[in-house]
Amino acid sequence: MNNTQNSSDWNAFDFHHYANQWYSSMIPEDREMIVFLVNELKSRGFKFGYESLDLVADVGTGPNLFPAMIFSQIAKKIHLIEYTQNGVKYLQEVLNNFKDKRSIHQRELWKKYGQKLCEIMSLDKDLLSIVSKKAQVVEGDIFKLEENAYDLVSSFFATESISDNTKTFVNSIESLLRSVKPGGIFITAHMLESEGYPAGLGTFFPSVPLKKSDLEKIFRSSLRVGDFKIKSFENTDITTRPRAGYEGTALVIGTVKNINSE
Ligand SMILES: C[S@@+](CC[C@H](N)C(=O)[O-])C[C@H]1O[C@@H](n2cnc3c(N)ncnc32)[C@H](O)[C@@H]1O
Repeated sequence: MNNTQNSSDWNAFDFHHYANQWYSSMIPEDREMIVFLVNELKSRGFKFGYESLDLVADVGTGPNLFPAMIFSQIAKKIHLIEYTQNGVKYLQEVLNNFKDKRSIHQRELWKKYGQKLCEIMSLDKDLLSIVSKKAQVVEGDIFKLEENAYDLVSSFFATESISDNTKTFVNSIESLLRSVKPGGIFITAHMLESEGYPAGLGTFFPSVPLKKSDLEKIFRSSLRVGDFKIKSFENTDITTRPRAGYEGTALVIGTVKNINSE
């Protein structure tokens, strides 16, 4: 099967519903993943509160601001690259302080999520306000990213969740890797074994049912990847993420090869 959602299908994606379902509280495996990511960044020499990177991109941001909140502590500027107009609108309404009831609710949700992140990162900051100042919402396509543009690129739960075709998944990873400057960092988060998912009443979006071993093979065989590490996080309560087949998540972190080391 080769089912990649086209842009009109994505209009059915309910960004508010998705955020309420998955980011109203910190799901246990997301917490574990965030703790792992924070420790990995520290072990790579990053200090939270010091803007050591000029430009970071999070691709397929949708209604998830936690990656940007973490990167706001190590970067001067962040591009939130989102494909759909509804996703762009969601992010602009949350970050630009829109006064309608739904946006106020989402801002409250992300303020609370930011406080949980602060506990993990040992910070006392309003991460949502910081992201509002540093982030620029950019309409864009994961398959058409600018090459060698970013010091760090991340994509959370997007690459495997926009199609059910493994080749499309690999192409999206290769495009992400090309957008990272030589020597820069990539971070990707994935749902494991997901067979598709809802994002609003009566909707169904495709997914590539990945195993950790698939990720290992794909990243090992990419010519742009220098070092990388993969860690998986098991789902222990299926009610928290109602996705058929879903077993948990995996985070990949690594560096893109330096031109000199090729
Ligand atoms: C499952 S959601 C994940 C959202 C979010 N990053 C998260 O962690 O929950 C998939 C996201 O990918 C976006 N997307 C779909 N096709 C895309 C494309 N070609 N390029 C970039 N983003 C895309 C969707 O609009 C949606 O926001």
